[in-house]
Amino acid sequence: MNATTAPDAPRHLRKDSDLSAAEVETLLSLARTVKAAGRTGLAPHLAGRLIALLFEKPSTRTRAAFETAAHALGAHCTYIDPASSHLGDSESVEDTGRVLGRYYDAIAFRGFAQGSVETLANHAGVPVWNALTDTWHPTQALADLLTIEEHHDPAGPPARVCFAGDGRDNVVHSLLVSGAMRGMDLRIACPGALSPEPGIVAIAQERAAQSGGRILITEDVGDAIRDADFVYADVWLSMGEDRGAWEDRIRLLRPYRVDRPLLERSGNPDVRFLHCLPSTHDRRSALGDQLFRLTGLEGMEVSDDVFRSSASLVFDQAENRRHTIAAVMLHSLAEGAPGIEER
Ligand code: CP
Ligand code: NVA
Repeated sequence: MNATTAPDAPRHLRKDSDLSAAEVETLLSLARTVKAAGRTGLAPHLAGRLIALLFEKPSTRTRAAFETAAHALGAHCTYIDPASSHLGDSESVEDTGRVLGRYYDAIAFRGFAQGSVETLANHAGVPVWNALTDTWHPTQALADLLTIEEHHDPAGPPARVCFAGDGRDNVVHSLLVSGAMRGMDLRIACPGALSPEPGIVAIAQERAAQSGGRILITEDVGDAIRDADFVYADVWLSMGEDRGAWEDRIRLLRPYRVDRPLLERSGNPDVRFLHCLPSTHDRRSALGDQLFRLTGLEGMEVSDDVFRSSASLVFDQAENRRHTIAAVMLHSLAEGAPGIEER
């Protein structure tokens, strides 16, 4: 990771563009090995290693993936949030990073500003992994790639992946750059006001030019979804955004809602559905119920029937978070990775 720095520098994962295409290949191959080994089949390659999970925002999958993968590899995690630490109140990110770097072998950070990940990486002296910021979600993208590649024939044309919804969100940015490195045909359908960051699109285009991948950013969801193999949705309002924006967001994004009629516009009877989760797909969460009362819709970014259909890969994708996060930890911390041996 961060291939441009000295060979003995900590292997950070601050954003997807820290990785070369070869490193993505290494990580995915490592993740497949980890997955094949099962819950108990891994040797304790990270025995004695200590990992800080410094989280400013809530998490179910990412935290659990780090904790379970670390446990399986013999490492130990400490979960630290703002309510139980000084971060964000009486202590800066820089000082927090300097201190944690004295105690831990690596830091996974989830939070708001991308600058916080960069600051930690500059000062902690140990590998820093981005576990989601407002701008990037690189560990998610690795799970997305693994899931797509498990369900796509490598002998056929590149996977056609259509994201429909809020184009500026962290998951889209990471998918664009990581997917481009895998040579995917990526189509982002979003309103102009919610387009991906131009600087990130430029990075994705550069990587796509090297891999033979393709990037399309369009307001026309019909164009984006035609012949798609995979259709991806994420929440219409991300963590940290003002919940007062829901009505405006629904107005903008309603044409991009992934429901049966939209999925059928792919023209592909075998099209698969992806979502990073959590999802507002039914009334069984407090937010989903509130949005149902507001709109009468069972599901916002995706209809409940699509979410629960046989086309949906969302729980395989969630499982793959654990295997790909194990790969990230091994790649940064284990001696000898990626030649990792099973127990
Ligand atoms: N997909 C994802 O990052 O989930 P969590 O917010 O639960 O970690
Ligand atoms: N875009 C979403 C992703 C959650 C995993 C968010 O940031 O809330």
